[in-house]
Amino acid sequence: MSLYSKKEPQVYKLDALKSYSEDERKLIVEYLKIEKYYRYALREMNAIVENLDDFCENTFSHNPIHHIESRIKTPENIIEKINRRGYPMTIDSLKTNIYDVSGMRVICNYINDIYQIIALLSKQKDIKVRLKKDYIISPKPSGYRSVHIVFDISIYFGSEPIIIPVEIQFRTIAMDMWASLEHELRYKSNNEFTEYDKKCLKQYSDDLYEVDLNMQKIYIKKTTGDRDDDWLWFTCRKIP
Ligand code: GTP
Ligand code: MG
Repeated sequence: MSLYSKKEPQVYKLDALKSYSEDERKLIVEYLKIEKYYRYALREMNAIVENLDDFCENTFSHNPIHHIESRIKTPENIIEKINRRGYPMTIDSLKTNIYDVSGMRVICNYINDIYQIIALLSKQKDIKVRLKKDYIISPKPSGYRSVHIVFDISIYFGSEPIIIPVEIQFRTIAMDMWASLEHELRYKSNNEFTEYDKKCLKQYSDDLYEVDLNMQKIYIKKTTGDRDDDWLWFTCRKIP
C-alpha cells in the first residue's frame, strides 16, 4: 500500500505505516515534517536551471536544455535506500547520508551542452557542488551514461539558511532514452538479463554514444559559419 493518497498526495495513509518497523515509522513521520524543504529546494534549483537555459538562448541563440524532469523521493524509497545501504534509521542519518531526496534530470541536446551547463552552474555563488560522478567519461559496466552532481542549495525563512542537497542527473536525449528503456527492461522483465542481453545493451549504449558524437559534429559544422566567439565558446569547447 502506498503511503500517499493519490487524491491528496501530501496526506499519508496511517494504515500504510503498519507494515513498517517502529524506527521506520518514526523516520517517516519526522521526514514528512521536513519534506517541504526538499520541495522548496527542488523548485529553486528548477528555476536556476531554467533561467540558465533562457540566458543561453538570449546570449548564444542556443538552448542547451531539451527538457527537465524532477521528483521528490517517496518515503518508501527513502526507507528502502537507508536499509539497502545499512545506514541508521533516523532523521539525522537521512539528512547526512541521503543526497537524492530532491532529484532532477536535465536532458540536454548535445554532450557539450551538458559540460557547458555544469561549468556555468559550478560558478554560481548560490549553489555549491557537494559531489560529482561522471558516468559519461567512465560509463557503468551496464553501459549507463550520465553526469550526477549533488548541489547544496540554501533556502531562507529568515536570516539563517537551511542547506538542502539536490541531485541532478545530466544526460543527452540518447542517454536518457537508453536509461529509461534499460530501467524498464530490468524491472519489468521477470527473468534476469542473460550475459548476451547485457552485452547487447552495453553495445547499444556505445552505439548511441557514437551517434551523440556524430550528431554534435554535424551541428557544429552546420552552425559555426555565422556565429560569434561567445557561441563558439559555448558549443565547441572540447569534451573533457
Ligand atoms: P542509489 O542508491 O540507487 O540512488 O545509488 P547512488 O546514488 O549511490 O548511485 P548512482 O550514482 O549509481 O546513481 C543511481 C541512479 O542512477 C539510479 O537511481 C538511476 O537513476 C541511475 N542509474 C545508475 N546506474 C544505472 C543503470 O545501470 N541503468 C539505469 N537505467 N539507470 C542507472
Ligand atoms: Mg540516487
